[in-house]
Amino acid sequence: MKRAADKGLLTVKVHHLRDWAVNAYGMIDDYQFGGGAGMVMMCEPLFNAIEQLNAKYAFDEIIYLTPDGEVFNQGMANSLSLKGNLLFICGHYKGIDERVREHLITKEISIGDYVLSGGELAAAVVIDSIGRLIPGVLNDETSALFDSFQDNLLAPPVYTRPVQFREWKVPEILMSGDHKKIEEWRFEQALSRTKDRRPDLLNDEE
Ligand code: ADE
Repeated sequence: MKRAADKGLLTVKVHHLRDWAVNAYGMIDDYQFGGGAGMVMMCEPLFNAIEQLNAKYAFDEIIYLTPDGEVFNQGMANSLSLKGNLLFICGHYKGIDERVREHLITKEISIGDYVLSGGELAAAVVIDSIGRLIPGVLNDETSALFDSFQDNLLAPPVYTRPVQFREWKVPEILMSGDHKKIEEWRFEQALSRTKDRRPDLLNDEE
C-alpha cells in the first residue's frame, strides 16, 4: 500500500466517525432495541459521515465489512480494482444499525468465517489486495496475473538457486529452457495442487 501511495496510484484516507458524534461526549453507539449485550453503531453519525464524504468523493461503492457479508475472493478484488473511489465502513461492537445497511451500503464483504473485533483489519486486507492489482503498483506488472486464484487455480510450486539443496533437486523441466513444456508443467502442478487442496475452487463457476 505504501508503494502504491508513494507512486500516487492509491490514496488511503482514514476518517474518524467520532467527528460526526451526536454529542460532545463523542457518542456514536447505543444499546440495542429489544435488549441484549453489545452496543450498536447509530444511524445519525453514519448517515452524516457517509453523506458528507459521498458529496465530496462520489464513491463507486460504499462497503461495509462484516462477517455476514459476501466472502471476499480474487474475483471481487479484480472488479473493485477497476473502480475509482471506495468507502469502507468499519463496524465495531454488535455492528451498525440495519437502516444504514439498507439505505447507504452498496456492498457487504466478509474476509472469512471468523469474527474480528472490528472491520479495520478486514478493510486493510481488502485494500491491500485491490491496491496491488492497480497497474504500476507491482514492480513486475505481470506478476499479479499469475497469482493464485487468478484463474481459479492455486499457484504452482516455485524454486530458486541452488539447483540442489541437501539431497533435494529442482525439477529438471524448469531448467530445460523449453518454455512451452514449462508452462504445461506449471499448469499441471497448479491443477493437481488445486484438486488436492481446494477442490471447491474447481467447482466454482466464476
Ligand atoms: N468484521 C468482523 N469480522 C469480520 C470479518 N470476518 N470480515 C469482515 N469484517 C469483519
